[in-house]
Amino acid sequence: MTDVLDGVRDHYRATGLVERLKVALAGFGPEDRPLAPQQLAPLDQFHTRGLAATADLARLAGVEADMEVLDVGSGVGGPARFLAGNYGCHVTGVDLSEPFVEAARYLTERTGQTGQVSFKTANALDLPFEDGRFDAVFLQHVAMNIADRARLYREIRRVLKSGGRFATFDVVLGGGDPHYPVPWARTPDTSFLMTAAATREAIELAGFHTLSWLDDTEAAKTWFAQMRASGPPPSPNLSVLMGADFPQLTGNLARNLIEGRLGILSAVFEAPPINP
Ligand SMILES: C[S@@+](CC[C@H](N)C(=O)[O-])C[C@H]1O[C@@H](n2cnc3c(N)ncnc32)[C@H](O)[C@@H]1O
Repeated sequence: MTDVLDGVRDHYRATGLVERLKVALAGFGPEDRPLAPQQLAPLDQFHTRGLAATADLARLAGVEADMEVLDVGSGVGGPARFLAGNYGCHVTGVDLSEPFVEAARYLTERTGQTGQVSFKTANALDLPFEDGRFDAVFLQHVAMNIADRARLYREIRRVLKSGGRFATFDVVLGGGDPHYPVPWARTPDTSFLMTAAATREAIELAGFHTLSWLDDTEAAKTWFAQMRASGPPPSPNLSVLMGADFPQLTGNLARNLIEGRLGILSAVFEAPPINP
């Protein structure tokens, strides 16, 4: 278990990330000039279809201003800042990667959202919050790194209020072995993919009731094709976090989608009362 966690941490290690972000963002102006959250989207939305996917999932989940939202596996915080900036809600992000959490705090200072968005280093399987704390939990492109899905979904349900929403956007197994490396794992040792059907079963077994269930694979394939056709990616982008070979990792994800080896799932669930 610890070996796997260390392997996942290594994948997202990102040495000296805050210093590298300072250099990468220099073109946006001096440190004390506030950045708009969407300026950071090419480097802080670490999932397929970028900012558009977060916006779609937020709509599907029915996020509102008075909500307390938890983003599990919050990366460098792009989704959390988007939710707070667009809906006015409070967002807490947790992530296993300490460098990512430090980077998330730095970027949140740069967008002037520190009062509304905060981050903690924590394991999704052991969330540092009391029962029933949140109105909504987001989980975007994180479950692929987690083997113990039963515990993951139980933990998410535990921290949700009765009637709270769980919104997930995930890569799922299709037919055949995926090509590696992919954006979340350089080898199969830290990749724990499940089919869409098995994912739904695991979430419902944790006590959730399905509100919406969408296959996002075609939209993802179209997005990758558009990215390819539009030439070099905007700068700075996710290579600042993940290294110069990041295009190879996303290229493999696109290839896996085209070949039907992987798919993308977008879904929202409701937490029923814990003791009805
Ligand atoms: C592909 S990134 C997605 C980041 C973010 N959700 C986004 O969409 O921008 C996956 C993230 O999940 C985090 N992660 C993986 N396993 C985790 C765990 N057991 N607990 C908390 N975070 C985890 C990683 O550190 C990484 O930041």
